[in-house]
Amino acid sequence: MTPQGEMFDVKDGVLYIEDVSAVELAERFGTPLYVYSRGAIAARCREIREDFLERWPGRAAAAYAGKAFLTPEMARIIEREGLMLDVVSGGEFFTALKAGFPAGRIKFHGNNKTKAELEEAIGRGVGHIVVDGTDELDLIEEICGRLGKRQPALFRIAPEVEAATHDHITTGKRDSKFGVPMDEHILYPLIGRAIASESVIFEGLHFHIGSQLFDNAPYLEAMERTLDVVLEIHRRFGSAVPMIAVGGGFGIRYTAGEERRPYLYFLDPLMRQVETFCAAHGLKAPAVGIEPGRSIVGEAGVTLYRAGAIKDIPGAVKYVSVDGGMSDNIRPALYGAEYEAVIANKAGQTASDRVTVCGKLCETGDRIVDGALLAEASRGDVLCVFATGAYCYAMASNYNKIPKAAVVLVDGADASVIVRRQSYEEMIACEM
Ligand code: LLP
Repeated sequence: MTPQGEMFDVKDGVLYIEDVSAVELAERFGTPLYVYSRGAIAARCREIREDFLERWPGRAAAAYAGKAFLTPEMARIIEREGLMLDVVSGGEFFTALKAGFPAGRIKFHGNNKTKAELEEAIGRGVGHIVVDGTDELDLIEEICGRLGKRQPALFRIAPEVEAATHDHITTGKRDSKFGVPMDEHILYPLIGRAIASESVIFEGLHFHIGSQLFDNAPYLEAMERTLDVVLEIHRRFGSAVPMIAVGGGFGIRYTAGEERRPYLYFLDPLMRQVETFCAAHGLKAPAVGIEPGRSIVGEAGVTLYRAGAIKDIPGAVKYVSVDGGMSDNIRPALYGAEYEAVIANKAGQTASDRVTVCGKLCETGDRIVDGALLAEASRGDVLCVFATGAYCYAMASNYNKIPKAAVVLVDGADASVIVRRQSYEEMIACEM
């Protein structure tokens, strides 16, 4: 694999992340190690500002989906980059507030928000709640009544669109656990109640159709259905829909066969579609909101491992084992996700050895890269797995009592720890 993108370089046969050698990072901070490029995160945020927010002033909004990777430092980066933040749990909300992220710039998601989570979010002045399902409105009204608040809310609908991705990460289908069903007798009474409510400010509609998508067709299809709902809301209640949020899902490059598409590719046609539809029906065009997670951090992060046992099973497979595995990256085991890797200290050598990079966990499915093409590996080599910035640290576990890896942020020639490596003591701190 040739490292792709502005954040990588190869000098004297060694892989560099921005201006720092990956081998030095492994030595200094230990392995496994998640490494993020500040520059790569900034580049994606800049693209969103220039090609979306500034291109459609007053009509575009962008919130980073924290579920992809959220730590206090990441929340501060997102705030400095001028984006809003999406959270899906009390824990993510807590992390953001702890980092000083303004509550009013946070959107709270979730198909089963608890009463405690809603109370905390509303009490602290969360910007938006994305209502998901029919009985959440009762809870919100009760809490707002008690706290004397009026809460801006978006309503998530299930637009019944099939998106081409792994079944576990499609979310807009009819049988999805997410969103309010589009059935007329379910959707409109709920929206009608929200519009009439003293506790809720109806801010619009939301859909999210899936993740790791490369085609804009399902977005346009979902938007078409949503615009019909906008028209129907106008017809039934005489109300405007201030915003339509289209979720995240923009695909990234994990392997050579994939190419991240610019935000423009997805968003320009969506904006035009909204404009054309609303002009034709004499409606005020709703603003469009996006919630990218993976496309902001996915390619900006890598994982460094130290190679250990190497096992060549004649006629079968050659394993290169690393000192982490499904505890720091569950995605291959969970979704059959594919990655590419390079031996950081042999980045100048031809990669012609076909191997399986496996982890150290007690599980056959604990593989990070199947059929990786690497230079001849030896014990002690530093392996770099690319594009692990989204949903890896976020989904890490202590399976097999493996402590969580540290996270380092590289900015030019600087490297700083933004998440300390968990110690054994910390790992069992809550265990009586
Ligand atoms: N907004 C909503 C409402 C979502 O449900 C999600 C992701 C996003 C935004 C962000 O989507 P992104 O831009 O990151 O694709 N663990 C899976 C991904 C699950 C995504 C769930 N929702 C994975 O590792 O592929």
